[in-house]
Amino acid sequence: MLLNNISLKPYNTFGLDVVAPQMGVIQNKDDINRILEETKYPIYILGGGSNILFTKDPEYCILKNEIKGIEILDRSANEVSIKVGGGFNWHELVLWTLENNFGGLENLSLIPGTAGAAPMQNIGAYGVEIEEHFVALEAISLETGNILNYDHDICKFGYRESIFKHEQKGKLFITSIILRLTSDNHLIKSEYSALQEELKKNSIVNPTIKDISNAVINVRRSKLPDPKDLGNAGSFFKNPEIDRNTLQSIQKSYPEVPHYDLANGNVKIPAAWLIEKRGWKGKRIGNSGSHAKQALVLVNYGNAKGQEIYHLALEIIEDIKASFGIQLSPEVNIL
Ligand code: EPU
Repeated sequence: MLLNNISLKPYNTFGLDVVAPQMGVIQNKDDINRILEETKYPIYILGGGSNILFTKDPEYCILKNEIKGIEILDRSANEVSIKVGGGFNWHELVLWTLENNFGGLENLSLIPGTAGAAPMQNIGAYGVEIEEHFVALEAISLETGNILNYDHDICKFGYRESIFKHEQKGKLFITSIILRLTSDNHLIKSEYSALQEELKKNSIVNPTIKDISNAVINVRRSKLPDPKDLGNAGSFFKNPEIDRNTLQSIQKSYPEVPHYDLANGNVKIPAAWLIEKRGWKGKRIGNSGSHAKQALVLVNYGNAKGQEIYHLALEIIEDIKASFGIQLSPEVNIL
């Protein structure tokens, strides 16, 4: 189905009122080739719209992935493989796995977006990244219309990274993903300090996967604004990786700077900490700002234009560079 002059306000979690000349709603694989033949515009693929900042009206035919459905492919004593439609809502998928007592995705509860978009930026939260459970995906090439299969190793996963943000950017429509989960003897990951505190608050000593999910949901709700109330796209920047010399120079002024060691000898520091230290947390400029409870989240107070949020992001990047010598990179796609 091809729609003309569509407001994308309901389709992006920043709630930006931009208009696309065309939108193709994809419910099955056949819809894709039909729309590719019909449209004269270049294609832009939208998942849940939860990781995008529109800075202007996009001169694209927007493809909206509405391919749903879940299938159990394989089941052994302790493991299960599932195939999920690319347009399936991510959190509904997590809830479905919990209902079936399948473990692995509980730490990724309440992340907005779709199953098909999840591997693109290797979604991660509270000590788990999707790549740990990812087996393969099926996609349709927008260049040839052919069906392609990508297994884990060709996806080049990294921190909020994959081949789909680089060599294959914009070239593939992800129709389904395959995940491997536990069906018994679940591996509980509760090391993340915010989770520990939440579990302790509820006197939970041996958490189940449902307990972890509930704890993650509570922690997220306490810090991250619900896009229904306040437009946002989660973390706007990635946490930067810096070398030890840069860390030491920051430590001279701020001995308390939080940091996490990486295998390559560098460290990662929270972008939220840098942004907060520079006084941006909770600061509102016109209709946009940095969230009062999580400095890394940029918000739309209601009527912001994408350009306004973009300029705020540029100001923050410049300030962090000038003050700490660290280059922040957006995690969100900017169009
Ligand atoms: N911090 C501050 N000020 C703040 C918030 C945090 O100084 O306003 C510092 C604190 O030291 C805190 C540390 O930053 O301990 C880490 O904060 P938090 O646990 O909130 O996580 P984050 O590093 O800011 C990352 C992900 C989130 C994910 C959480 C939990 C990125 C870019 N973001 O945020 O992912 O939910 O960890 O695992 O890696 C997203 O990608 O959209 C997202 C929300």
